[in-house]
Amino acid sequence: MRPHQAEIWGLGSYVPDHIMTNEDWAQRVDTSHQWIVARTGIETRRIADEDQSTIDLAEPAARAALEDAELEVGEIDELIVATDTPEAYLPDTAAFLQERLGLNKISSFDLAGSGCAGFLQALDVARARVLSGIRERVLVVGVELLTRLMNWEDRNTCVLFGDAAGAMVVGGARESSLARILAAEAGTDGGRADLLGLTAGGTRVPFSLEGAQRGEHKAVFMHGREVFREAVGRMAEVSQEVLKRAGLALKDIDLVVPHQANQRILQALTQRLGIDPQKVFSNVREFGNTGSASIPLAMDQLREQGGWPAEGTVLLVSFGAGLHWGATVLQAGG
Ligand code: ACO
Repeated sequence: MRPHQAEIWGLGSYVPDHIMTNEDWAQRVDTSHQWIVARTGIETRRIADEDQSTIDLAEPAARAALEDAELEVGEIDELIVATDTPEAYLPDTAAFLQERLGLNKISSFDLAGSGCAGFLQALDVARARVLSGIRERVLVVGVELLTRLMNWEDRNTCVLFGDAAGAMVVGGARESSLARILAAEAGTDGGRADLLGLTAGGTRVPFSLEGAQRGEHKAVFMHGREVFREAVGRMAEVSQEVLKRAGLALKDIDLVVPHQANQRILQALTQRLGIDPQKVFSNVREFGNTGSASIPLAMDQLREQGGWPAEGTVLLVSFGAGLHWGATVLQAGG
């Protein structure tokens, strides 16, 4: 039987211990705490230890989400991992994580390459799988070691990102859940792929010795100003679209948990939507931009602080390389 609704049963997150401050970055590149705070709002970010790989961050976040959902690993029947920093080039991170968690031999796959928009894409797929009746309990993980993709000498990008993981369990209706998923919307403009990305390593620009010597394999490029403009515009548009789909309006929104890219982007988005800034959660100051981990990490932190509402309407909205964007509306309390 097909369930009538999909709900978030459990939530978890994990950040590595090592804290890197703006002053630490100022020791390495020509920047300052004042510049970074004024332009981005970021003060610290977490950096994975050298011996940590993607599943070392994903595993504790996934286990926390399972515990929160009061489920055993054997009760999960699908695993979706959103990441741009996979455990290996082949196979995907989901394969490694399925084994590490001791999940049954269930369908497991990655959604990759959509930058910071990855988690909401994965959540939407999980929701669709549950609503179609194909799966009953889907584990969704967003995990990034983005600091491994950055050129640590490029001040334009290196100071913005951090490492983290977040996870959710999505299932049908049940008595107690964190939230019901009301609607989702998303979009892509591949014509703007030139704004943000990592060129080397694909079939277009294969790995080469010369490229590796130039550090091309870890040198995300970004046209900051244009990304900023697109991020604000696209997130504002998709927020309106998803609300329309849910039969709601901006005035119905009690809380916004946006992708934590940059405090100025969040401010501009808040202004563009005409939302009370008190309703917009931000932890970008503490963790920087953690890509597809950012929304579940923010939700988990908000809940830890006692800020997750017992009821009300919550808007999640994200934007990333691609360009891809997406938004989801939740009814807190299920
Ligand atoms: N420290 C000091 N100076 C810097 C730094 C730094 N860390 N980074 C750049 N600068 C310099 C630039 O070199 C430039 O110098 P110049 O004028 O001598 O050439 C100057 O600061 C101004 O650069 P701009 O790019 O114009 O600065 P801007 O005000 O746009 O801020 C920033 C840059 C913070 C990157 C901004 O454009 C931004 O936030 N863009 C969005 C990027 C983003 O969030 N990307 C994340 C991925 S996508 C997503 O998650 C939404």
